[in-house]
Amino acid sequence: MAATAMFSSSLFPTTPLNKSSSQFLRPLSFRQPLSRIRASVLQDKEEKVILQDTFPSKTSPLDSVNGNSSNDNTPSPSAWEKGVIKVEQSVNIFLTDSVIKILDALYRDRNYARFFVLETIARVPYFAFMSILHMYESFGWWRRADYLKVHFAESWNEMHHLLIMEELGGNAWWFDRFLAQHIAIFYYFMTALMYAISPRMAYHFSECVESHAFETYDKFIKEEGEELKKMPAPEVAVNYYMGGDMYLFDEFQTSRVPNTRRPTIENLYDVFVNIRDDEAEHCKTMKACQTHGNLRSPHSYAEAEDDDESACTIETDCEGIVDCIKKSVTSNPAKVTK
Ligand SMILES: [Fe+2]
Ligand SMILES: [Fe+2]
Repeated sequence: MAATAMFSSSLFPTTPLNKSSSQFLRPLSFRQPLSRIRASVLQDKEEKVILQDTFPSKTSPLDSVNGNSSNDNTPSPSAWEKGVIKVEQSVNIFLTDSVIKILDALYRDRNYARFFVLETIARVPYFAFMSILHMYESFGWWRRADYLKVHFAESWNEMHHLLIMEELGGNAWWFDRFLAQHIAIFYYFMTALMYAISPRMAYHFSECVESHAFETYDKFIKEEGEELKKMPAPEVAVNYYMGGDMYLFDEFQTSRVPNTRRPTIENLYDVFVNIRDDEAEHCKTMKACQTHGNLRSPHSYAEAEDDDESACTIETDCEGIVDCIKKSVTSNPAKVTK
């Protein structure tokens, strides 16, 4: 598994924009300049141009370690820090590969049960991140709304993946439910501890898990695509991907401009394509989070433009519990909240 694979927006399928969908590309003018990418031109019955509005690409500490940083503002880590990052990532890859081998052995031919287990586990890290950040907030160490908003939106998206797998019968056998739910409990405490000690490591671990989810769905779509196109989409999927309020759907996709991804769900194939694409968006968000302070809500760019005061908001944060305690004894309590 290429757990450390770099996910760039051009690697993933984008929504072809026809005349009706182009209305979603509102001319938002964000403070931070947008990169407008002309990805490709599809030759179909009618010519469809794929355009994608993206925020500037986010970096990961891995970029610096590998000498391919694309952001000049990101300070290069010291030799010691590079070593620590490599150890963290090696541990994460070992853990992820070990779990994948166990799942491969247990769920070789039972796809929906495997997806149910994956999705039960997938929500857990976002809940663990929010738990630790809530604790920091209670102590006055943390005042950054973006992280809580984005992580909740991520858990909301993963919950709908779980509901879809349940509607497809992935949770039919008690053993699968027992296994998934007990792994989830262990995973919660492990992630919370890891996040308190090293947020960077915890975010990288989640990137590994999301990367595995992307690869799993991508393989499934390629193998079962023709059959999936003949099957109806679960109602929960239609309601989620084509419902009225898409704020949270946009919120977890931090490298995309809101309103630029609006799936059309006609059959089960469309559902799995969009679940796979969601996993790719989670990967990009987790990668961005590995650089401290890098995460912003996609909606915050527009909100900052509407409200000049929010751009001046003082934000308090810290990187892990050691840094939080250190800052709490050397600086004044947070005065401004948002
Ligand atoms: Fe998922
Ligand atoms: Fe996921």
